[in-house]
Amino acid sequence: MNDYRDLIATAIVNATEGLETEDVKALVEIPADSKMGDYAFPCFKLAKVMRKAPPLIAKDIAEKIADNPLFDKVEQVNAYVNIFISRSAYMEDVIREVNGKGADFGKSDLGAGKKVLVEYSSPNIAKPFHIGHIRSTVIGNSIYKIFDCLGYDTVRINHLGDYGTQFGKMICAYRRWGSKEEVEKEPIKTLLKYYTKFHEEAEKDPDLDQEARDIFTKLENGEKEELELWTWFREESLKEFTTVYKMLGIEFDSYAGESFYSDKMPAVVRELDEKGLLEESEGAMIVDLEDYDLGVALITKSDGSTLYITRDIAAAIYRKQHYDFYKNVYVVASQQNLHFQQWIKILELMGYDWANDCVHVPFGLVSLEEGTMSTRHGRVVFLEDVLNKAVEKTREIIVEKNVVTDNIDETAAMVGIGAVMFQELSNNRIKDYTFSWDKVLNFDGETGPYVQYTYARAKSVLRNAGEEVVAKAQAAEGLDMQYISGDSAYELTKLIYAFPSVIEEAANKYEPSVVTRHIVDVAQAFNRFYHDEHILVDNEDEKIAKTALVISAANTIKNGLALLGISAPEKM
Ligand code: ARG
Repeated sequence: MNDYRDLIATAIVNATEGLETEDVKALVEIPADSKMGDYAFPCFKLAKVMRKAPPLIAKDIAEKIADNPLFDKVEQVNAYVNIFISRSAYMEDVIREVNGKGADFGKSDLGAGKKVLVEYSSPNIAKPFHIGHIRSTVIGNSIYKIFDCLGYDTVRINHLGDYGTQFGKMICAYRRWGSKEEVEKEPIKTLLKYYTKFHEEAEKDPDLDQEARDIFTKLENGEKEELELWTWFREESLKEFTTVYKMLGIEFDSYAGESFYSDKMPAVVRELDEKGLLEESEGAMIVDLEDYDLGVALITKSDGSTLYITRDIAAAIYRKQHYDFYKNVYVVASQQNLHFQQWIKILELMGYDWANDCVHVPFGLVSLEEGTMSTRHGRVVFLEDVLNKAVEKTREIIVEKNVVTDNIDETAAMVGIGAVMFQELSNNRIKDYTFSWDKVLNFDGETGPYVQYTYARAKSVLRNAGEEVVAKAQAAEGLDMQYISGDSAYELTKLIYAFPSVIEEAANKYEPSVVTRHIVDVAQAFNRFYHDEHILVDNEDEKIAKTALVISAANTIKNGLALLGISAPEKM
């Protein structure tokens, strides 16, 4: 596919003197109003070098590049050169490229040889996997897919919260009031129940806390019984997490969570000490970050046990040694901003110049229409229940709307779960948002079901076009472009063309919603084209040309959905 910015820049450089292609390319704009051209080149910045008024420069350039066969029309308007590119050549180029590349359209080798770690989901063992976790899980998965698509060497990490004094409490509670059968039946809900009971009882009997601490020490020392119980809790919890990951189609390369770093902690504490960063404070060890307005970071408690932040420091050092990452990305709620600022600063103070390759990608809160949820107040909404409900509700809509499917269960799962994921990825991640069923499952809004439905509609056109036409349209050789010269075809093609650069933008900003919004635009543009044009006409050439564009649109939507972790149904 031609890089039109490049071609325009080259034409301008050839028509002028003393300009560099890269500089010109950076100035080329896409006007908000397509009546002002497909591209525009503002001449303000050239006034100084050329010692001429910008409108005069624009006029001169416009005249000189006007007869370039790549352009249909070149106009000077004030200080701008407005460029209308030759539609048919452009569209044919785009369609041939997209149809030829298929699932590879959008891929690049930009990141070749660079390793990007993406850490996401990271729930806590024996704690509910609730609707709040969906954000990290789904956003992180999409960020991984975006980097993967750009050719980076990616590693997906689930930094499980599987370590800490709470396990002393959990084991203590289990021994006192627990039963094996109960845990096996409903691990997380049951363990949570024990944990809550522990806190209630500990209020009455303070000795319990000491007992729990002793148990945790035993666990830290690797004593058999404690270790066995902990391992069992971890496995049972993981089973439940895995059910949800399967529903979401999400996988990980590593489950090295907090416990993985427990034996690496003493070395980190020693190193902090050797580098003169540790201070004692009431028996605990801290790093004072007041100079950087980042408060104080607690590294070890007075009993010597390490903390969450100590494990993050150890994890980052380990990851650098083990993976030699280019970027080490953490998709974690914005509530943990200070935590990330603190430990990244500590790594910097330790002299690690790669500290700033550790990137915290924060996101806002999700609340339910009834109000924000909170584990403490017992208003937990389990993610698995939300997903099941989404599938169930979608199934009802499918029946009610008489939607055609080959397999209603498969479609309901694909659309229902896709809808929840899509919603998650629709807004800027940093924004707080309220989860609403009506919004998520609206088939006409800017939603997952709408985009999936559009894809299925395109596929239905292709089925009706017949294999022979589709084969010719797929090859896109010698298309008769006069049949797709209308505005809606052109606007659709422009959005398709932009798809690869949209992926790059999403990666630069760690922002999947850039992709989400773009595929909504593509879907809307496709529907306008579908509405404006009669596609399956009698005239063969016309049918082939239009079908070729349908293939490009369907392909772009499918590849876009894939970057969000969502499947595209063939029928719906
Ligand atoms: N387990 C933590 C939680 O549920 C999230 C872990 C985030 N990752 C990290 N490296 N600190 O809040």
